[in-house]
Amino acid sequence: MQDRLNEIEKAALAALDQVDDPAALEAWRVTHLGRSSDLMEVFSGLGKLSKEERPVIGAAANRVKVALESALESRAGAVKEAALAKSLEEDELDVTLPGRNKHIGRLHPSTQQLRRVLSILAEMGFQVFTSREVETDEFNFQHLNFPPHHPARDMQDTFFIEAGERGDNPILMRTHTSPGQIRAMRHFAATNPQNPPPIRIALPGMCFRYEQITARSEVQFNQVEGLAVGRNITFADLKGTIADFVRRMFGEGARLRFRASYFPFTEPSAEVDVECFVCGGAGCQVCKNSGWLEILGCGMVHPNVLTAGGYDPKVYSGFAWGMGPERQLMLRNKVGDIRYFWGNDVRFLEQF
Ligand code: DAH
Repeated sequence: MQDRLNEIEKAALAALDQVDDPAALEAWRVTHLGRSSDLMEVFSGLGKLSKEERPVIGAAANRVKVALESALESRAGAVKEAALAKSLEEDELDVTLPGRNKHIGRLHPSTQQLRRVLSILAEMGFQVFTSREVETDEFNFQHLNFPPHHPARDMQDTFFIEAGERGDNPILMRTHTSPGQIRAMRHFAATNPQNPPPIRIALPGMCFRYEQITARSEVQFNQVEGLAVGRNITFADLKGTIADFVRRMFGEGARLRFRASYFPFTEPSAEVDVECFVCGGAGCQVCKNSGWLEILGCGMVHPNVLTAGGYDPKVYSGFAWGMGPERQLMLRNKVGDIRYFWGNDVRFLEQF
């Protein structure tokens, strides 16, 4: 019986040497360690042996079983490594190939520019104040010194939401961020009506105009309004603030000029041009050969507007401006058509 066990072990180990893939390994296990293997037959025959033989043969059979199991385990490791090596070779995995790019989202160019503007203004001490997009005629026009039939209303064609029963005060989409000036002044004045605190704010947000969509005009666009109100604020403060902003935004060497203009809510009013950075002032298509690009409207807050906001114009004065981030981007990046901004064409958006 001892000899038979030695034979079984020898034959099994010899067969294991030939095994070189996982399927053959499993077949070997069934043949040599499975329920109907020769070794298991020895175990099941133990009962027929004599009392003296049984423990001796039992121990020997166990030793063979342990030996075969450990041989199987180490062969299994070798087979696995060989299979990996083979697949690496056959699959020709080129570990030097670049990985697949993940498409990472980004902020919309308008949002990026809006944030640039606001972070510059924050450095200059302007706090962000947000105001509603749906307004009343009263706030969008009347408090800003546009009387009901004022011709300057035609400068801003309006989306009316509810015109019918509200008489002279229909609900509308704001056509500019300027009504936020009144909301902000009233907000701050309410904290101390007798002696309202000074204000230095930036009002960002979407504006809407009922206009023909063309390369130069869209029905929606962002504006950033600035407002400073306090005692002894003069036009010199306005000029200094705007000049500082322009240099921070367009570069230390940027040249600018103030041009007299008209807005109902400011007096005096001006528009600001920067020297065309496309042609350096020599004249080109972007600046229509003028050498200058208009970037904002501004002025000293009209006394009627201060009054509407709860600030006594005999005590307080202030300045304001309004500018468009999309327009700034168009100038900065030579974007020829404003419709790209809301066209959702990734080829455009990806460039920012
Ligand atoms: N609200 C004007 C517009 O939308 C822009 C503007 C001009 C705002 C002068 C101002 C300002 O605050 O002082 O065209």
